[in-house]
Amino acid sequence: MANTILVGAQWGDEGKGKIIDVLTEQADVVVRYAGGNNAGHTVWVGGQKYVLHLIPSGILRKDKLCVIGNGVVVDPIGLVNEIHGLSKLKVKVTPKNFVLSETAHVVLPYHRELDAQREVLKGKNKIGTTKRGIGPAYGDKAARVGLRMGDLVDAPRFEEKLARRIKENNEVLKALGAKPLSFKQVLAEYRAAGDFLKPFVANTVVLLHEAMRRGEDMLFEGAQGTFLDLDHGTYPYVTSSNTTAGGACTGSGIPPHRMDRVVGVMKAYTTRVGEGPLPTESAEISDLLHGMGREFGATTGRPRRCGWFDSVATRHATMVNGIDDLAVTNLDGLDTVETIRVCIAYRHGKKRYDFVPNDAETLAQCEPVYAEFEGWSTPTDKCKTWKQLPVKAQKYLKAIAELTGAKLFIASVGPGRDQTIFV
Ligand code: IMP
Ligand code: MG
Repeated sequence: MANTILVGAQWGDEGKGKIIDVLTEQADVVVRYAGGNNAGHTVWVGGQKYVLHLIPSGILRKDKLCVIGNGVVVDPIGLVNEIHGLSKLKVKVTPKNFVLSETAHVVLPYHRELDAQREVLKGKNKIGTTKRGIGPAYGDKAARVGLRMGDLVDAPRFEEKLARRIKENNEVLKALGAKPLSFKQVLAEYRAAGDFLKPFVANTVVLLHEAMRRGEDMLFEGAQGTFLDLDHGTYPYVTSSNTTAGGACTGSGIPPHRMDRVVGVMKAYTTRVGEGPLPTESAEISDLLHGMGREFGATTGRPRRCGWFDSVATRHATMVNGIDDLAVTNLDGLDTVETIRVCIAYRHGKKRYDFVPNDAETLAQCEPVYAEFEGWSTPTDKCKTWKQLPVKAQKYLKAIAELTGAKLFIASVGPGRDQTIFV
């Protein structure tokens, strides 16, 4: 399989977790490279549901090494809970199958508090963040005042750095009318998490290069999606990391020319959680999917906004990420739709766009130009092969792959491993 980067081609929640789990079968190492516990990857294995936030979805297969790279921001309390939660479900997380970068930045309680307070200040212009402190944690990283995992596991150093950071952040919190934090309490909680996580913390750059020299195959697990990328998304309605393929290099320390392939995951329709433009948003398809009990956020439980497939967006994602192969998920979500619409261009006044304009305000004013496809009106969730898919579904899949400009590789018709059709 060589080294593969897997990214979301839309606004996140494309079903990356499931595809990672499937592709991990052929990989040795799975590396998460960006984001934090704002992510929520739902994976079903043998009728059991697993929701992962920080730990790569590769953990659900035996004898795979899962790595959290330097580009991730780690909430240590959340991570410890996630490890305990997995062990209750009989998934063992040990320093043998899970390693955490010593240069990954730590999410602290003032980040979460500031995240919430800034959203309040923004009022109707709020981003709709997950309130996990992601933006402020990356902000501190860029401002060079962040604490890293290497600091957390070094007791005296952590205490000294935390004292300074809490002092400054408490001033900011007070100015915003929020409650200051207790240094003692934060220290105690984080020290306990630090002690627990210490055996997992390592120099992951060196470790990954050693694995590469041994000829091991690596899978880079993207979180969120292309249009939530800090640089390439619908700024400011984005997350604070580089979710796109380039982030896999900076977020892991593996150089670009050692990457062999980029897989883009996209739903057969479009969803988004949080605020910001979504040109193909449609009440019709939102109601349909929510009515089926689908499309509620795995991290916050919020109903996702739903819309028709937007090929302007996915084509743009192919360009930015260099997507070679496509995995289309949730095809079964469209099983009952009579006429399926696909956005093929945007209209803005007299101007026609076949790429995504950078300005979020312009994008919000864009009207989609639609092509229509006849629905297949048959359940697809039991289909195991391409041939078993209704011809109209095949036609739809081929069309959206062609419009996206990449090769159709996987069609997924449900959450289970066996609901995966290799094309
Ligand atoms: P933040 O990452 O919590 O700062 O949130 C910023 C934006 O990204 C919000 O619109 C969130 O809903 C969205 N977001 C963050 N993580 C995910 C995810 O894993 N899936 C979908 N949307 C996400
Ligand atoms: Mg998700």
